[in-house]
Amino acid sequence: MNILMAASECVPFVKVGGLADVVGTLPKYLKSLGHDVRLILPKYAAIDGKKYNIKTLPYRLQVKVGQDTESFRIKHCLTKDNISVYFIENVRFFNRPGVYGNNGQDYGDNRERYIFFCRAILESVKALMFRPDIVHCHDWQTGLVPAYLKTNLKNDGFFWNTSSVFTIHNIAYQGHFRADTIEVAGFLWEDFTPDKLEFYNSVNFMKCGISLADAVSTVSPTYAKEIKEFNGMGMEIVLNSRTDEVYGILNGIDYNYWNPKSNKSIESSYSKNDLFGKKLCKTALQNLCGFDVGEGYYLFGCISRFDNQKGFDIIIDALYQLKGTNMQFVILGSGNQYIERQLKEAALKMPSTIAVFSGYNEDLAHKIYAGSDVYIMPSNFEPCGLSQMIALAYGTIPIVNRTGGLSDTIVYYNHFTKEGNGFVFNITYGENFVQTILKSEKIFKDKKNWNILMQNAFNSKFTWDKSVLEYEKMYQNVIHNKQYKAVFIRS
Ligand code: ADP
Ligand code: GLC
Repeated sequence: MNILMAASECVPFVKVGGLADVVGTLPKYLKSLGHDVRLILPKYAAIDGKKYNIKTLPYRLQVKVGQDTESFRIKHCLTKDNISVYFIENVRFFNRPGVYGNNGQDYGDNRERYIFFCRAILESVKALMFRPDIVHCHDWQTGLVPAYLKTNLKNDGFFWNTSSVFTIHNIAYQGHFRADTIEVAGFLWEDFTPDKLEFYNSVNFMKCGISLADAVSTVSPTYAKEIKEFNGMGMEIVLNSRTDEVYGILNGIDYNYWNPKSNKSIESSYSKNDLFGKKLCKTALQNLCGFDVGEGYYLFGCISRFDNQKGFDIIIDALYQLKGTNMQFVILGSGNQYIERQLKEAALKMPSTIAVFSGYNEDLAHKIYAGSDVYIMPSNFEPCGLSQMIALAYGTIPIVNRTGGLSDTIVYYNHFTKEGNGFVFNITYGENFVQTILKSEKIFKDKKNWNILMQNAFNSKFTWDKSVLEYEKMYQNVIHNKQYKAVFIRS
């Protein structure tokens, strides 16, 4: 199959959250199944052209955004795994410091930026003469691609064999804009209907993707159920109006990258059979944070976008409630400035037990995953969550709220049966984060049980091997349905 992955972020080029990890890893696995997979991304200023040997291709293309004609170039490079990556280069929209915004504020023209990106994707594949069987679109920033294919381009012969798939990584970000978006994006008003582009008299990019892609998926089975039932942030009806299912395919992580045995950022390498290095990583992290050093301290890590999704209200509350205990907290993140201020205030009041680092810092992230005893993720909702999987790969025990992908990956440790890989509480049932932390501490102090729990963590593997087959099956179903419809309509 010819597969085009269209997304707004991708490792190693540019990353805001887990979307980038998924888009950077899944193609390798699809390629290993024999598919021709290519990626298309915006060429943000943050993407280092020299480092990745990115070259400009000899095309000069244009698309309309509102009344303006926007010119762009296509850039190209090959990844380490020999996957072609195309970058859309346009100074006006992408040559700025942030990806979606700056200093926690979204850019005011994100509507125009991603209309441009979607149109440029479709123009580029024509210029490149790459006819995708599947265009796999990720999140709202690419939601208009399925919409163009089903409206303006429905009779374009180039795309006759092209189907689209839309994956929801986070339904909380929808790209919801005024109705005049129809004109800015160059659609026809006749397509401004509830089954196509209209959503409560507005244009919502996520809704367009969900309604008009040939198949829809999200990143864990539980989140697929939740968004149809109660957690769809207004999209429940749209999701339920699809006659076919919404696939829930669990993300995996790249165990070559997230590997304490080979990671260069951490104080000492270690593995499940040799945990001495993990102790050294803990000491190094305690020193880095200016904490007292000692194995007996219970060290918590958290690496996250600062966003209400991630349960920072609960974390901040816990920091104060656990004051004066032997617990130490190290938090790294960026995003919402209010959350950051509150965390920093707590750290200022309790400097010997709380350290807060702001910004995006991959190197420090590895140090925290490796050096912590536990990893906290009390998310209010979580489509999949990669951080808890990464923590497990480092033998660091997750404490999570039972929601979305966290429910599908973390099982409460039972010290009788010795089964389970973390600690789970349920906000919906009124269960308490601090109580769960205190219960987990009892196991931490019982070294025999803690070692078993760490082994269970290392043994919990969320590889892409199984999930990639589910994606392949979804693509095959979509192509099969398209061929079936073509025959059915002709006969
Ligand atoms: P989300 O995509 O909702 O942010 P995930 O758990 O799926 O949450 O993925 C988050 C990813 O981003 C993980 O790889 C995590 O290590 C990384 N990450 C988040 N914030 C930072 C940061 N400030 N510095 C470095 N890595 C970060
Ligand atoms: C989103 C979600 C996160 C998920 C990631 C990758 O950012 O918030 O739960 O793991 O996408 O799919």
